[in-house]
Amino acid sequence: MKINTSEFIISAVKRAQYPMDGFPEVAFVGRSNVGKSSIINSLTNRKMLARVSQTPGKTRLVNFFLINKEFYIVDLPGYGYAKVSKKEKESWGKTIEMYLTGRQQLKRIVLLVDCRHKPTGDDIMMYEWIKHFGYDVVVIATKSDKLSRMNLKKSEKVIRETLKLTKQDKLYFFSSLNKVGRDELIDHIFEEPVH
Ligand code: GTP
Ligand code: MG
Repeated sequence: MKINTSEFIISAVKRAQYPMDGFPEVAFVGRSNVGKSSIINSLTNRKMLARVSQTPGKTRLVNFFLINKEFYIVDLPGYGYAKVSKKEKESWGKTIEMYLTGRQQLKRIVLLVDCRHKPTGDDIMMYEWIKHFGYDVVVIATKSDKLSRMNLKKSEKVIRETLKLTKQDKLYFFSSLNKVGRDELIDHIFEEPVH
């Protein structure tokens, strides 16, 4: 698949603002700062389609990007950011949950984990939640430029074991800096849900 066009549609606060045209959606979830917005920019080959920041907690609303006028990429707020108030955490949690529950158009969830760290309790919970609701999941380990080849192998094992991935569950490594394997990744993530 080739991504020819990508447009920002809306940052939604409430359900009523979600697009109504029924196009399939692929959502990106993961801890705050894991690189959700960055990977969306990499895959769409745009520098600032989604907002990236060194400070965790940049994405706070549900952002919809229309791709090739045929499907949406959905950028969600990150979870697990320690430095926000309890109230704020609850509000983000609600924002994520409001989108993920009962969204018929949602065809696949891409769960991002940082390849340098063992998946956290929040990651495990997210993975189990996705499975429980029967969504199709693809796991991507981000920031792969930060590890040597040998440590990437180790990381693969740790991630598979910690999340208890099944044989069928796909796990890819990606770096938004060098973008190696970008075209294949696009096929793996979007081909099936969209076509
Ligand atoms: P929230 O919106 O806060 O949930 O964060 P996010 O998951 O959208 O992360 P974002 O894309 O904003 O990236 C967070 C930081 O990680 C930024 O400083 C990025 O430049 C950096 N980053 C993202 N992807 C990569 C990567 O592949 N390699 C490296 N080295 N840094 C990355
Ligand atoms: Mg973001």
